[in-house]
Formats: sequence, structure tokens, C-alpha cells
Amino acid sequence: MNKFMENNKRPDDMKRINTQELAEAFISEQVEAIKKQVGDKKVLLALSGGVDSSVVAALLIKAIGQQLICVHVNHGLLRKGEPEQVVEVFRNQMNANLIYVDAVDRFLDKLAGVADPEKKRKIIGAEFIRVFEEEARKQDGIEFLAQGTIYPDILESDGVKAHHNVGGLPEDLQFELVEPVKLLFKDEVRVVGKALGLPDSMVYRQPFPGPGLGVRCLGAITRDRLEAVRESDAILREEFAKNGLEGKVWQYFTAVPDFKSVGVKNGARTFAYPVIIRAVNTVDAMTATVEDVPFALLQHITDRITHEVEGVNRVLFDLTPKPVGTIEWE
Ligand code: XMP
Repeated sequence: MNKFMENNKRPDDMKRINTQELAEAFISEQVEAIKKQVGDKKVLLALSGGVDSSVVAALLIKAIGQQLICVHVNHGLLRKGEPEQVVEVFRNQMNANLIYVDAVDRFLDKLAGVADPEKKRKIIGAEFIRVFEEEARKQDGIEFLAQGTIYPDILESDGVKAHHNVGGLPEDLQFELVEPVKLLFKDEVRVVGKALGLPDSMVYRQPFPGPGLGVRCLGAITRDRLEAVRESDAILREEFAKNGLEGKVWQYFTAVPDFKSVGVKNGARTFAYPVIIRAVNTVDAMTATVEDVPFALLQHITDRITHEVEGVNRVLFDLTPKPVGTIEWE
């Protein structure tokens, strides 16, 4: 395996890791490899709470415990409950060395007034690097950087998690890389995560873009609309889970545009934002079809969102496949 790891090439005869047993064998092998690579040195990891970085964190905790320093940057664009779950699972349950950085104001200040989607992505990516770099500089004796690179990253973009928009650390912070899952496909990473004892809500979660809710709070981000996106997304996820759609639909979320419409509530006129629901299925995210969500469920979700989410008076369902639309709105 190690020779193949060095070449970034998956051996032709490597078995697909699709059972607990194969996952456990992979874990033992990687724990030994990590110990050998790292020795008694320290390793830094940006832990977003996504599947890949969470599985890498759990593997490294098993291999080197407190020598791993996880940094979780809360940029304010995560889904409801996500930062709390990272702290709960990694610090409280796995006893990890976790640095939690509350960078919400910093990100939102930088993003204020910026409406262009690509500019928003760049700001989020660049600011993420800056925050991570600051935390890295506070630490003494780091020699390694762990990354959740997976095999599709190597195949599709030269081993760079390009879709994470994260860019790179400066020259003087170029640590040796530890990439224990870089020969695995996504489904295998999930099987390994499950075998490492990570919760299902982390292991089986739907894809979530690096810039997070930032590209679902359309146009220039404001705190009120960002909260509307977060709260409506939480309601959508709760209702999809309750109604058996959680594992069935590939990706589902809400977006909030930056225009208002007239409505009426308790006999009075309102002027508030709409929430857009998107629910799609795809194999590779290059094309996508719209999930046929039961109408009664959509009505129930509409009822909940318009009553429970502040500043919202309408709910729309996006019927557009990809192409012509993209999955995200920005
Ligand atoms: P689109 O909107 O291009 O999305 O049809 C395809 C898939 O990619 C995700 N996506 C992103 N992921 N950074 C990411 O990490 C991004 O900037 C980004 N933009 C889109 C999207 O959620 C979908 O799964």
C-alpha cells in the first residue's frame, strides 16, 4: 500500500472497502503508517466537520492522540448545529486536541456588501487560509499537515481539493502532508468513518459546498437573511429526515434571494423575503434531476417555514434540472 500511496495511485487489485471488516483492516494499516510517518511530532488539521476531514481526524486521533491539533474555523456559514457537533464529537467524545475559532464576525465583515458569487467564494477561501495560518503560527513544533484528500481529488484536480476554494498556506508553513484516505473513494471513506465510530449524521451527510451557506444567502450577505437560510435549511432537513427522504435525495437545501415580496399575516401587510427549496438527485453533480417531493410535504414545510422563520413570507420550490440550472443558485 505505501508504495502506491507515494505514487498517488490506487493499486489495480485493491479491494473496494465495503464491509466493516475491510474498513478495520484499512484502519489498522493506516494507524501503523501514520505512527511511522509522524513519530512523536505534531500534526495540524483543518477540521470542517465534513466527511473527509472528520474521518482523517478520527484516524489520526486513533494513531497519535494528542499529537494531532485540530482547528475548527466557524466562519458563520455553517449549517445549524454543525460547529456544536464538531466540538461535541471531537472534543467531548473523542478527547481530541481541538481549537475552536469563532471567526463569524471576521468573515461577515469581509463579505459585507459583496454581491458577486465568485468574489464571495474568493473572500471566504482567502479568509479561511488567513485564520488557519494564524492558528498554525500560534503552535510550536508542527511538522505535518493532515488533509482529507480523497481519490477523486487526485483524479480530477491534481490532488488539490480545488472545490474547497481554500488555496494554500504560505511558503514558510509548508508542512509534510499526511493524507491517509487519499486512495479511497467517497463511499469507502464513509465505511471507514462508520467503523471509526463517527455518528451517522457526520458519515452519511449530503454534500455541502466549502463556502457553505454563503452561496445560498444570495447576493450581498446580510445577517438576517443568513439566519433565514440557516433556520429554513434546518426545518427542511428535519422534515426530510422525518419523512424518509434523508438518505434518498442526493442534495437538498434552501436559498434566500435578496428581494422582498408583499404578503399578509395576522391581518396585516408584510414585506419579507422568500425561501427557495431545492432538492436534486445526481450521480456526479454534472447533471441533476429534481426530486419529486410529495406535494403535501412541501405544503407542510411551507407552513413551518413561513411561521417559524423570521422575516420570511413565501416559499418557492425550484423545478429546474441541471442543465439548465446549476445545483446551487450561485
Ligand atoms: P453546481 O452548483 O455547480 O454544484 O451545480 C455542483 C456540486 O458542487 C457543490 N459546489 C461547491 N462545492 N465549493 C464546494 O466545495 C464551491 O464553491 C461549490 N459550488 C458548488 C454543490 O453543492 C454541488 O454539490
